[in-house]
Amino acid sequence: MSESGPAIRNLQADGAQYSPPAAFAAAARIHDRSVVEQADADPIAWWEDQARRLAWDTPWTRALDDDDAPFYRWFTGGTLNIAANCLDRHLAERGDKVAIHWEGEPGDTVTLTYRDLHARVCRFANALTDLGVGVGGRVAIYMGMVPELPIAMLACARLGAAHTVVFGGFSGEALGERMVDFGASVLITQDEGWRGGKTIPLKGNADEALDRAPGVRHSVVVCRTDGDINWTPGRDQWFHDLEAAASPEHVAQPMDAEQMLFALYTSGSTGKPKGIVHTSGGYLTGVASTHANVFDLRDDDVYWCAADIGWITGHSYIVYGPLANGATSVMYEGAPGYPGQDRLWDIASRYGVTILYLAPTAIRMFMKWGDQEPAGHDLSRIRLLGSVGEPINPEAWEWYRTHIGGGAAPIVDTWWQTETGSIIVSPLPGLDTLKPGSAGKTLPGLRAEILGEDGNPVPAGEGGYLVLSHPWPSMLRTLLDDDERYVSTYWDRFPGKYLAGDGCRQDADGDLWLLGRIDDVMNVSGHRLSTIEIESALVDHPAVAEAAVIGRSDPVTGEAIAAFVTLRDGFEGDAILIAELRDHVAIRIGAIAKPKSIVFTPDLPKTRSGKIMRRLLRDVSEQRNLGDVTTLANEEVVAAISETAETMRASED
Ligand code: WT7
Repeated sequence: MSESGPAIRNLQADGAQYSPPAAFAAAARIHDRSVVEQADADPIAWWEDQARRLAWDTPWTRALDDDDAPFYRWFTGGTLNIAANCLDRHLAERGDKVAIHWEGEPGDTVTLTYRDLHARVCRFANALTDLGVGVGGRVAIYMGMVPELPIAMLACARLGAAHTVVFGGFSGEALGERMVDFGASVLITQDEGWRGGKTIPLKGNADEALDRAPGVRHSVVVCRTDGDINWTPGRDQWFHDLEAAASPEHVAQPMDAEQMLFALYTSGSTGKPKGIVHTSGGYLTGVASTHANVFDLRDDDVYWCAADIGWITGHSYIVYGPLANGATSVMYEGAPGYPGQDRLWDIASRYGVTILYLAPTAIRMFMKWGDQEPAGHDLSRIRLLGSVGEPINPEAWEWYRTHIGGGAAPIVDTWWQTETGSIIVSPLPGLDTLKPGSAGKTLPGLRAEILGEDGNPVPAGEGGYLVLSHPWPSMLRTLLDDDERYVSTYWDRFPGKYLAGDGCRQDADGDLWLLGRIDDVMNVSGHRLSTIEIESALVDHPAVAEAAVIGRSDPVTGEAIAAFVTLRDGFEGDAILIAELRDHVAIRIGAIAKPKSIVFTPDLPKTRSGKIMRRLLRDVSEQRNLGDVTTLANEEVVAAISETAETMRASED
C-alpha cells in the first residue's frame, strides 16, 4: 500500500452470515450456480448474451475488440439508439406502465408513464436539434433532481450527443471549468433547486459558469421555484417554452455502439478532475444486465435508488439501467430529513417500494435519527436492499436489514466506480451467502484479483491492490482528451490489468472485503473528492502558504475532510479566517468540498524528498499512535500538530 493510503479498517465483525431465504432463492432470476460458472468460463459469451437484452439496429460483428488495448472496444459494428432502448421499445407492452414516480421536496408529484416520458424526450430532442445539437454534440447539464433531468439526458442520447452532468453541489467555477473542458455548446439548468426547505441558486451559479465558458451559446432553464433569476436574452430560454413549441414526433436514429454517451468528471489524485468517458452499447449492456441481476428485478417491482443523478450511481441505476429494463422507479428531489426525519420511509411506503438502494452514509444517518422513524411506516413490501459508495460497516448493515428490510431482505453491497460504469462486485441475492461488510464476489463475466506490490496475487486474508483482469463492456474507454493519463492511471501499474485504486482482501471463501482507497482520493458521504484538489483551492487563497488535506474517519460520513494549513507571514489563524477558507473552497469547488476542520500549523510533516506525509496527519487526527516517524525531514513538527489536534476538534461545525 502506498504511503499516503488510508488506514486499513477491518470491517469484519462477528462473522455473521445469511443465506438467501428459500422462497427468495427459488424465485430469483439467478439461482443456479452453473450460470455463474458458465460466465466465468467464457466471459465474452456471457456479455454477448447480456447484450441481447437490448434492441440493436445492426448486430455487432465482433464482441470484444482488444487490438488497441487498453483502448478496448465492445460490440464493434453494432448500432443502436440508447433512448429507443430505454423508451420506444417498451411502448407496445409497457406504454402505460409508470416509468418514474417523481416527488418534489415540497410534496408535489409527477407521474411519468413510458408513453409520457417518450413524448417529452422526443419533444426535447427536437428542441435540442433546433439549438444545433446533433450526433457528437456536447451538452452540459446542471440541475437538481427534477423530471427534466432524465428527460434532458435521454434527449441527448436520442440524438447521439454526449452529456456531462455536473452535480448541483458543485460551484459555478467548477461547472465553468467542466463545461470548457467538455466543449459544451448548450447548458441545461434550472432556476433554483429545493434542498432542506431552502433554495439552491442553480441558475445564479450557472451564470457565473457561462461567463467563463463562451463556447456555451444556449442555456435552457427549467422553471422549478419561479424564484428571481437573471436573464440574458438570446442566450437563455425556458425549458417549458422549447418543449411546448416542439413536436412530440421524433424518429430515433441508430448510433454506433462506441458513440460517446456521456463523460462524467470525477476526482483523481491530481488537482484536475478526470472526464470519464462512457460509450453506448457496452455501457447500456452493463447497466441493464447488472440492474436486472443484482436487484433481481421483476416486472412489478417498485425500485428506488435514492442517489443523485449527478453521480455515476444515478446515471447507471436511476436513469439508464432501470429504463432499459422497463422498470418502475421512484425519484425524489430533496433532502432525506425534510420536513421530517421519516421522509424516505414515508415515500417508500406510499409508493410501495420493493427495492431500495442507498449509501452507507445515509444508513448511518438514519440509524442516528432513530428506529422510530422507519417503524412508523409500512415498509413490508421491501424485498431487497442495496448499498453503494463506500464500505458498509456490519453495524449499519444489520440495522438496515432489521429496520428497513423487515429482518429478512437480502442486502447487496455493490462495489463499483465511475470508471467501471456498472456494478462489478456484489452478491447475487438468490444465490450467495451474505456477510455483512463484504461485497461478495465479482459478478458473472468479470474477473478480479488482489495483487501485491510485485504484481503477484497475495494469499487469502492478506490485503493488496484490487485489479480487474478481464475487460468488461461498461468500462470507461478513456479520459476525455487525455489518453495518456488513462493509461498511466489505470494500466501502467500492472500491465494488462485495470488498477481500481482500492485496497482489498479476499477471505478463504473468495469473498472480497474492500479496504478503502490507496490513492489521495477521499470518500465523504459517498462523494469522491481529491485531497490535492482541495489543497490547491486552499493554497490559492492569499493567506495560505501551504496546505495538506486528509480524510479522517467519521462515524456518519465515512470520511471527513480535515485541512492543515500553514499561513503566510502577517496572517492570523483565527475563527474568521477558518470561515473564510471554508467559503473559499466552496467557491472554488463547491459546498461538498468544505473542510470540516481546519488546523493552522507552523509547518507540515514532510519526507526528505518533500512529500507531505498525509498518513501521519491522519494518525494525528484520529489520535492514533504515530508509529515510525524517522523518515520525516522535520520531526519536530509532529509535536506541534498533535497539540493543535484539540483546537481542530473545537473548530468543527
Ligand atoms: C469508489 C468509487 C460506485 C458508485 C458510487 C461511487 C468506493 C464504492 C463501494 C462499496 C466499498 C466502495 C471505492 C471506489 N466504493 N462502492 N460497496 N464498498 N467501497 O463512485 O465516486 O467513482 O467512487 O467508491 O473506493 O473506488 P465513485
